[in-house]
Amino acid sequence: MAEAIQQLILDTLDKQGTIKDTRTLVLPGQSDPAATHDAQIIILGALNSLSSREMITYTTQETLSHVLTPEGASIALNGSHEALVWAAVPAKGEGEPITPKQLEEKIGGEAAKVGQGRAFKNKWIAKEGNGLVKLASSIDDATQKEMREVDSTGTLKAGEKALAELRKRKLITQKKGQWFTVHKGPSFSTSTAKPETDLTTDMLTSGAWKTSTFKKYNFEAEGVPTSGGALHPLLKVREEIRNIFLEMGFAEMPTSSFVESGFWCFDSLFVPQQHPAREVQDTFYLSDPSTSLDPPKKYYETVSKVHEHGGFGSTGYRAPWSDAESRKLLLRTHTTASSAAMLWKLAARCRGEKDDPEVEALAAHTGTTRSSKDTGDGFRPAKLFSIDRVFRNETMDATHLAEFHQVEGVVADRDLTLADLIGFMKVFFKKMGIENLRFKPAYNPYTEPSLEIFAFHPQLHKWVEVGNSGMFRPEMLEPMGFPKDVHVHGWGISLERPTMIRYGINNIRTLVGHKNSIESVEKSPAVRF
Ligand code: PHE
Repeated sequence: MAEAIQQLILDTLDKQGTIKDTRTLVLPGQSDPAATHDAQIIILGALNSLSSREMITYTTQETLSHVLTPEGASIALNGSHEALVWAAVPAKGEGEPITPKQLEEKIGGEAAKVGQGRAFKNKWIAKEGNGLVKLASSIDDATQKEMREVDSTGTLKAGEKALAELRKRKLITQKKGQWFTVHKGPSFSTSTAKPETDLTTDMLTSGAWKTSTFKKYNFEAEGVPTSGGALHPLLKVREEIRNIFLEMGFAEMPTSSFVESGFWCFDSLFVPQQHPAREVQDTFYLSDPSTSLDPPKKYYETVSKVHEHGGFGSTGYRAPWSDAESRKLLLRTHTTASSAAMLWKLAARCRGEKDDPEVEALAAHTGTTRSSKDTGDGFRPAKLFSIDRVFRNETMDATHLAEFHQVEGVVADRDLTLADLIGFMKVFFKKMGIENLRFKPAYNPYTEPSLEIFAFHPQLHKWVEVGNSGMFRPEMLEPMGFPKDVHVHGWGISLERPTMIRYGINNIRTLVGHKNSIESVEKSPAVRF
């Protein structure tokens, strides 16, 4: 059908040059011209298809036409109310006159009520006694005729006044209509053969390209969305936090060792060997291999001595030292294991050893520190950070998994105080958009004093814990070889918490793991603190 109409339009244009009014077209299989609204809609489809191929151009003309209301349609079919009344009453002298009540029963209340008045006015019926009889022997149902005329042409020959009357009687309503004037387009032809969309080798060799018609490029068409890699929300937030550290003159520590020994994860940090965090229900231990390579001998001995017997002004834990405990391999429970190893390397020059190449590289990246005075003891200040994965043997729930990411900052300088630590954290968190901070005394085996960091959460409208911090203990720093006036402070936060707050995620399992949808990753917006 669609193609037959397109062909009709093209043939008519071929014959007439233009089609002034598409309402004059007689569509295939029809005997009347396409005057109705529906017919013009069908024609419009054909016009759009032809004009997209530039075979024709067309302009739209608006008309107002009329359509029947349901009441009008019923009159077109069954006759007007007055005609129904006339048909229902007996002729004069033929049977009993019909009472108004009987009339109502016969043709319905509405038709009887409206129809009687008009039938009287038209002198079609008259009163006889208590009833009604016919006055005219035949009638001309003009209303029905008008309805039929409007139905087929959308208007009345009688003109606007008659139409307005029918509108007032709510038998017809106005409807916008359209028709079209059609001209030949630049690619006019009477053939509706589909244009070629591609130039092929076959066309070139056969020469068919010379006579083929080609489809025009549509530069307005939207392309298929391209698929590509997308950064996970955690990586986006990681990048922002990384930038904050870099902006503050911090250098990034290497943290690729997920597997650490008990020595670096705990002992070097002065975590007692009997500490509950070291038990299997909190830490994942490796079974194969299960023991670490040899730790640096001298340092190891000093650490074990401080634990067991004390030193550097400390009484130590006075509990037997276990070499086996220290050599156990485990999945690191915090990135502070890496920080400890890095600090030990940083202290190499203080121990009179050669500078560690890793430290040298980091030192080159460390920005200004408060005091850089060289007192000849080999110490050089450092601002270090890391953001990497840690593992804890925890029961998983909506906010905890067995692994997460830790963001850790460490500053080593002479005479640092708690006020420096608090000041640093204020600047750091402010850069993350968190201005309202509170600090609560806490306990870490490796820091004294220790502070838990709380931030006011504007959406949750309460204080939430965002991190942990402290001044590293002399029992940890002095065995490494740092001079007494060198103080080191550090703080750690999780990467998951700010990410979940940022993206409004309340179940960590929708952020990490198999329930995380690729689509949400692809759509997650960039983060700017
Ligand atoms: N390691 C601590 C934690 O896991 C964070 C921290 C780092 C605390 C450095 C003090 C100093 O919560």
